This record gives sequence, structure tokens and C-alpha cells, in this order.
Amino acid sequence: MVKICPGACLVLSDMSLSEKMNAYFRLTFLAAVLIAEICAQPSTASDFILSSCRKSQIQLDLPAEHVLGKQVRFSAIDQDGGVALITDGLATQCGYKISQDDWGNVVFRGSLYSCYVQIQNDTYFTVQVKIEISSRPDMVGAEVYIKTVSCPYYWKPREIFCETNYMEVSVRRKIPLIAEGIFRDEPEDWAAAFDEAVVGLMSIWQVVFHKSSTQKISMLIDAAQERGYGVNTTDARTLLRSSYNATEAVFQKVDAVTFSTLRATLFYKQRWFIFLIDNAVACPVDDVKFSPGWITWTIPKNISPLLVGAKVLQKSSSQFGLDLLDLTNADILSGNYDVVDGAQATTVRIPMGADGGYYKSHVVNQEHGVTYSINPFLENNWVDDGWGVTKYTIVKDITTPFEKRPPIITNDTVSSTLIFSVTIGNFLPDVYLVNVTIGGTTFPVPEAIKTGYNVTSRIHPNGTSEFVLKVPFTDPRVSFKSLTDGLLFTLNVTFGFNIIPHDETFISSTVVQCFVPKPTAYCEQENGMLSATIGNLDPAWNVYIKDVPATTSNGMLASGNATYSKVQIPAQSDLVAHEAVGGSVAATIPINIKDGSGSTIYSIVAICDVPPIPVVCQPNGTIQVTVKKVADIRDMDLSQLVLRDRSCKPNQVDSNNAYFTFFADSCQTLRTFQQGFIIYENQVTYSLSGRILFIMNVTCNYTTNGTVVIEDYKPYDNPTPSAQSIMASLDLVLRLSKDDSYTDFYENMDYPVVKYLRDPLYFEVELLYSSDSRLELFLDTCWATASPEMGSLPSWPIVVNSCEYGEPYQTIFHQVTADSRVQFPSHFKRFEVKTFSFMNGDQPYTGSMFFHCDVIICDASNLSSDPVCTGIGSCIPARQRLGRSVNSNEDNIRSISSGAVYLLAPRAESYMQY
Ligand SMILES: *[C@@H]1O[C@H](CO)[C@@H](O)[C@H](O)[C@H]1NC(C)=O
Ligand SMILES: *[C@@H]1O[C@H](CO)[C@@H](O)[C@H](O)[C@H]1NC(C)=O
Ligand SMILES: *[C@@H]1O[C@H](CO)[C@@H](O)[C@H](O)[C@H]1NC(C)=O
Ligand SMILES: *[C@@H]1O[C@H](CO)[C@@H](O)[C@H](O)[C@H]1NC(C)=O
Ligand SMILES: *[C@@H]1O[C@H](CO)[C@@H](O)[C@H](O)[C@H]1NC(C)=O
Ligand SMILES: *[C@@H]1O[C@H](CO)[C@@H](O)[C@H](O)[C@H]1NC(C)=O
Ligand SMILES: *[C@@H]1O[C@H](CO)[C@@H](O)[C@H](O)[C@H]1NC(C)=O
Repeated sequence: MVKICPGACLVLSDMSLSEKMNAYFRLTFLAAVLIAEICAQPSTASDFILSSCRKSQIQLDLPAEHVLGKQVRFSAIDQDGGVALITDGLATQCGYKISQDDWGNVVFRGSLYSCYVQIQNDTYFTVQVKIEISSRPDMVGAEVYIKTVSCPYYWKPREIFCETNYMEVSVRRKIPLIAEGIFRDEPEDWAAAFDEAVVGLMSIWQVVFHKSSTQKISMLIDAAQERGYGVNTTDARTLLRSSYNATEAVFQKVDAVTFSTLRATLFYKQRWFIFLIDNAVACPVDDVKFSPGWITWTIPKNISPLLVGAKVLQKSSSQFGLDLLDLTNADILSGNYDVVDGAQATTVRIPMGADGGYYKSHVVNQEHGVTYSINPFLENNWVDDGWGVTKYTIVKDITTPFEKRPPIITNDTVSSTLIFSVTIGNFLPDVYLVNVTIGGTTFPVPEAIKTGYNVTSRIHPNGTSEFVLKVPFTDPRVSFKSLTDGLLFTLNVTFGFNIIPHDETFISSTVVQCFVPKPTAYCEQENGMLSATIGNLDPAWNVYIKDVPATTSNGMLASGNATYSKVQIPAQSDLVAHEAVGGSVAATIPINIKDGSGSTIYSIVAICDVPPIPVVCQPNGTIQVTVKKVADIRDMDLSQLVLRDRSCKPNQVDSNNAYFTFFADSCQTLRTFQQGFIIYENQVTYSLSGRILFIMNVTCNYTTNGTVVIEDYKPYDNPTPSAQSIMASLDLVLRLSKDDSYTDFYENMDYPVVKYLRDPLYFEVELLYSSDSRLELFLDTCWATASPEMGSLPSWPIVVNSCEYGEPYQTIFHQVTADSRVQFPSHFKRFEVKTFSFMNGDQPYTGSMFFHCDVIICDASNLSSDPVCTGIGSCIPARQRLGRSVNSNEDNIRSISSGAVYLLAPRAESYMQY
């Protein structure tokens, strides 16, 4: 198979030599016709081996994907089919170089004057190489490829090539004019004297190395080759090749740069002449220096060992390039290279990271770092009076020293997300995250992702990458410590990395901590519900009130999002506790925050922003009561509040609160025993002119072990004078009877009814329009006022707490019996009022008077069914009620008022009569 690639380079491969030669000749004649066709041929197995002609070299490129991890062997094939394995020594001696970069790409280079090259007219060179690739060190089963590459090249009179593993100089032999008379007379003598010179048509016969001006080492050509030197002649040139450390080479400084130099005089014969030619080669060895970010390469201009006895006449400019390919000035500029072609030296500065080179990650002493590699060359040309034109080329494989690059671990955790976020970077693309060890457990990356950890890689525009690991705080492998004001979460993570292609491994560990403040709870009260907003919550946590989970289905979870929850419970719930907070007592919600497994992470108490709880039962038996001013009672004088023992008054009063403190065995506190509890009860009342406007029952339940249970305290804030005025849908009537027969009543038009003070007033209250015999009407409170408004002052009590009231002349209840008018006696109540009992100062009141009653409707057959009615009706004879219990639902209390009654003062004597 034959293939022609653009660029003056002929590739012949996988053919026998004769085939190739045939092909070559065919091509020579038909090239113009065939090129297009040949290039369209299907690719062959060895097509992955790219060949090219570069300067005075042929190059084969074997991409890493075909050779990585395999043994690759090159052999040179000569024109007779002889095969020579290219070892390191042979490479140096014969002008080959085999290298592999960090990625595994293999590059083979051969000098156009390498040992087994086929040369035509010193301008056309064909190198044939056998390539064996095997995965086994013993090369068994190797794939074998033959590559033949031909390159034309036009040599300068002297060319020096400093390859990394050898130095080579080729010099054009001047075909001297045969000097008249020299040796002509006695040719046989020369032939007889130098047998060796007769062996070939043209050959080198002897080499004299000039180690110094005094030390010269002379040897026959075979001996020189045995010592590793490459010495040969071609049609028009001589060649000398040497390693840098050859015995006959010397190290020598030129402008502070050390060169390995070798100078030799070759004796060769041509026809029957012996000629001498001086060969000198010098290549720098310490010309590359590293500084942070830069590679500096300095090559002196006048390399004295190459200019023995000569003077430089003209310097032509330098050519800089990479991988033996020229860079244009524009390339140099855009690559930020700095090439200074000075009079004394050419200095090249290469920025680390420049295009054309590459970074590579490595691990040295378990530490991660990078190197940067680049393969530049520099070509200088000059003209001197000894050698004519010299082309001087140096190629370098530069790798910067290993530079530690400890991975940078960034803690990107945002504590409110409750997810650890750790970034590690920056890495070259050859670094792979293999595994992560979280809290001691190692997960290969795919497994870590399956386990729920988020592992992602982020690739920057410049090709570097970083890895991001996310681990929720609630992960079982995250440890946490409870501190007084929150939790400290700790993530121990180790990242395990692998560097391709050589499986170098390293690890990087870190400990990331994040403090999360304790959840906060803010509590509010509205409409008898306490609601607590709990912040700093993890969505994976569950909120409990005491031991009851707060859920939407049980109504305790009101709302929330990822980081907060709002819970609510009725203020009277058993789950609400009470705690003394800053001198007063507050309702508190005990909140437990548990993780998925049910273990408590936090116990916090939401202190509710509600008015102080009015009753505190201290374990020592002290009862503290706070009574807030009742807004409905105008001008309420808190100092007038009393307990059952009316001598027990508030210990302290401020503008809004009255505070009682008393012992359970004082102030007429009632004591009962019930189911293991001792129940103490008392009552705070507020009376005005004998009328009770406010009652608050105080109960303390003590268990025998001294624990306090508080229940059933509720301000009794009704009735108050401001009880809402007569309702629009009046279903009650308060009538004034003309006498105690309750048969004749004053009509609307009779008002105001005028009475003398000594006249009793007979009132009747009726529930209208009802035929429900089970209902019974009770009078809760009746009172008189001087003006029509129920709440106006002065006011005088008539019925208090459902019982007759009045000193010294009590209100009298009258029996109601059925008659033609009274169908349901229980729908009526009658009472008699002594008008002169209303005092105005020390005088009985005279003038307009209005009468009012608060009325309660109860179930006559079962009074205890309604707490308001319980115990009612014990003020005999009228089956009035005795008192009221607590927790009343006030809906069945109605108010009613009479029309005006005008009281006239009787004569003084008649007044005294009573
Ligand atoms: C010298 O060059 C000739 C022609 O290229 C070649 O055949 C021969 O093998 C070479 N000798 C050495 C020792 O390299
Ligand atoms: C050899 O090369 C020289 C210079 O390129 C050329 O002048 C000459 O004709 C060539 N000879 C042959 C036989 O190709
Ligand atoms: C030159 O160096 C190479 C590699 O370091 C070594 O194998 C060789 O023996 C050395 N040659 C001489 C002549 O010192
Ligand atoms: C990982 O995190 C990224 C960025 O936050 C997100 O887009 C992606 O969905 C996450 N993947 C998993 C599996 O959680
Ligand atoms: C690559 O880009 C990243 C992010 O912009 C930057 O941090 C890093 O230093 C860059 N690396 C190189 C070698 O330029
Ligand atoms: C994790 O990866 C590192 C680096 O590649 C390796 O050295 C280590 O053995 C791995 N650990 C496990 C448990 O596989
Ligand atoms: C990680 O970040 C969090 C949140 O910004 C911060 O609270 C914590 O202190 C950091 N931890 C470490 C170890 O840097």
C-alpha cells in the first residue's frame, strides 16, 4: 500500500523492499498523476503511525492510544533487508531518538544520515523502520509494522545537530582539484603504504581526536565505531556523531554555558588520494534555566570550538520552533515567547503553560504537583571564513522541575442549606477522582453518588477542573457535637485521586466543620392558639411537641419550608407548660427536634409572647395571682379587688395589673381532695357599690408529691356593666306590675312610672315566644341606674349572683304559678324591689331610675348540663340559682332593661316610718 501525504514526504509501508522500490520508481514517473488517487486509498493497519520530514530528520508519531502500556520496539532496516534493533547505544551512535511523552505518545526520530538510511545523491533519503508493538515484555505476539519514509533535504556545507541523545556534524567534502604533481609520481607507494585505504571506493580510514591542543588520540575507524562514535562518508559529505559524554569529548564553557565538544580529523581516501578533514561538534548541556513561570534558554552566538581558526563573517537570524517545526513571528508573539537574537547570544524565554507544551500531573513523595514540558528547537546560521555556511540546530526536551501543587480545598458550605459543600482543585485533566472517604467509609465515586452524595466536576475554560462534594449534615457519617448554643457538624473527608496514564495515586484529606445555631422558636398567640416558628431546622428533622409529632394531619404543623416550621396548638392544650420567665409566668411549648431515626437532637422551649398567666401555684403552697385591668369596666380600681376573704387585697398594684400573693391556707381558700389532688380554690372579685362586676376563679391543684398542676383559671370578665345593650332580636321583656298579683302591668305609654320611695316595685321578666317547657329563665344580675345606659353610674345592685340583694332591705323573689296568662312558669321570674334602699350618699336616691337584668336561660330538667346553670336555683323560693361556675359559655346570657321609673321622696315622717 502506498500513500503520499502532502509535504514532500513519501511513505511506503507494509511492502517488501522490492515492491517499495518499484513503487518508488513508479511514483517517480507517475507522481503527478497518481498522488490524488493514492491518497484516496483506504487506510491500512499502520496508518495510525504518522510520519513526517522535519528539518534533517524523519519523524514517526505513535499516538498513545495505540501504544500506552505496551512495549514498543524499533529496528532499522538497511537496503539489503538487514534488521538492527535500535537500542539506546545504537540510537546514540546511529542518529536515532526514541521518546515517549507523559501521555504515552511515542516519537521516533531518525537523522537523515542515520546508519541504515538509503541516500540518493545526498539529497534524497529513505529510512525504513520496523515497529513492533506488544503488550508483553518478551514481545511475544507483537504486531509488526514496517514504515518507510523518504525525505528530500538540501544540506548546508556544515550542519551541526544537537539532538538530546547525540551530537552530529556533517561536513561537505570539497572535492579537491587534484593538485598537479602531488603523489602522482609514486601512486603505488601510497597504495602499498595504506592497505586499509584500498578497501572501498570511498571510506574513512582513520580518526584523530583532538582532546586538547596537546593531546591527540588517533584510532582506526573500526575502533572509533567500537567506542560508540558514528563516523561515515557519503558521496559528498563526512559525518561524525557522538554522545555528549564520549571519552574523547571535553566539556568547555562558552560565555558561561557548558558545551560538550568533540573535535576530530577524519582521514579519508578518494580514489588514490588521502584527504584530511576537520570535524568539530559542540552542543550545550546546561543552557536551560528555570525561574518561576519561565524557562530561559540561552545559546551563545560565537561557539569558539566550532570556529577554530575561522572568523564569523555574517550572522543570519535564528529560527525558533517546536517539535522541529518552525514558528512564525506571529506564532512567537501570540504564544508569548520571547526570542531575543542578540549579538552574543540568542535567548529564548518560554512562559510556562505556553501552547505547544503541556502540563502533566505527578505524584512525588505522595504529594501532588505538576511539570510542564515543551520540545523547542533553535537554529542558528552563520557564515565564517573557515567553513562557509554553518547551520547549527539544537533540539531540547524541556521538562520543568516538579512543582508541588497541593490541592486547594475550599469550604463552600452555606450553613443554612445544611449541606456541606467542599471543592477541591484545580487539577489538570489527567487527574481523576477515584473515591471519597466520608467519616471513615470509602466509596468509589459512582457508589458515592448512588449513596446520595453529590459528586460533580467543574471544568474551567482553561481545561483545569475541580471536584465538588456535597454531603448533607444529617448524613450518618457526618458527626456532630451538641454545644450549648447549637450543633457543630464535622465532615471528615478524604479524596482519592488517580493520575492517568501511569496510575499515580494520591489522597487529600480535610476536616470541614460548620456550626449551626440551635433552632430558635418564636411563639405568638392568636385566637387562643399558640404558634411557634422554629428556625434553623433541617428538613430531615421532625418536630415534636413533647412527644407528639407535629404534622399537618393533626393540625400541629401550620406551615414551613426547608429551614423553618411553624407549629400551633391551642393555648389550653395539655402540651402547653408554664414557666416562670423573668418574674412572671409564660406559656411555653416544649419542642423536641428529632432526626429520622427518632433520636432527639434538640429540646427547646418556645416561650410564648402572651400576657402573663394569671395564676402561679408555687410548690410551697404560695398562690400568686395577677389580674389584668378589665377594659370593659370603666375606671376599674384594681386596689379594690378582693379574695373570698374580703380583707385579702392585692399586695401590689400597677397601672395595668394587680398582684396577689397568699398562702393556700389563708384568705378563705377552699380546700378539697380529689383523686390524689389537693384542690385549692379562691376567687378574685371586683364589686362596685355592692354589685359584683368581675369574678375570677383561682384554682391550684397540688399533687401529693408536690408537683403543681395548674388548671381552670379564667378571668370571669362577665358580667360587667358594659354587657352589650339590649339585643335587637329581643326575646325577653321586663315588665313592672302594678301590684304583687302580677296581673296588671304598666304599659309602654305609662312610662315614666312615678313611685314614692316607700312603694315597692314589682318586676316580672318573661321569655317571650317560646313554647319549650324545658327552658327555665334565671336572673343572673339585676341592677338599677339613674340613667338609661346599663353601664352608667351610679348603679345599685338588686340581684347579685342570682340571689336577692340589698341591705338592709333585700330584694324579694316571688313564686310564679301557672294561670291563663302564664303557660310556662319556668319562663318567668318575679321580684320585688324596695326603692328606698338606693342610697345617694346618706340620702335615699330620688329621681329617674332604670332597671336592668342579665338573664340566663337554662335547661330546666338538667341544670348541670350547662356550667352556667350548674347550682343555679338554690335561692329559694324562686328557685333562683346559687352561684356560677367557671368556663361559662356566655352565649345564653341576655340583658334586658325597663323603662324609666321616677322616684319621689315621701314625707319625712313616712320615710322615718320604715
Ligand atoms: C556508512 O554509510 C553507508 C552509506 O549510507 C552505509 O551503507 C554504511 O552502513 C555506513 N557505515 C556505518 C558504519 O554507519
Ligand atoms: C545531485 O544533486 C545535485 C545538487 O542538487 C544536482 O546538481 C545533481 O544533478 C544531482 N545528481 C543526480 C545524479 O541526481
Ligand atoms: C555516557 O552516558 C551513558 C548514559 O549515562 C552511559 O551509558 C555511557 O556509558 C556513558 N559513556 C561514556 C563514554 O562515559
Ligand atoms: C448535584 O448538585 C448539582 C448542583 O447543585 C445539581 O444540579 C445536581 O442535580 C445534584 N445531583 C444530585 C444527584 O444530587
Ligand atoms: C484555570 O482556571 C481556574 C479558574 O478560572 C484558575 O483558578 C486557575 O488558576 C487556572 N489555571 C491555569 C493553569 O491557568
Ligand atoms: C481510594 O483512592 C486512592 C487513590 O486512588 C487509593 O490509594 C485508595 O487505595 C483508594 N481506597 C480504597 C479503599 O479503594
Ligand atoms: C465552612 O463554612 C462554614 C459556612 O460558611 C463555616 O461556618 C465554617 O466555619 C467553615 N468551616 C471550616 C472548617 O472552614
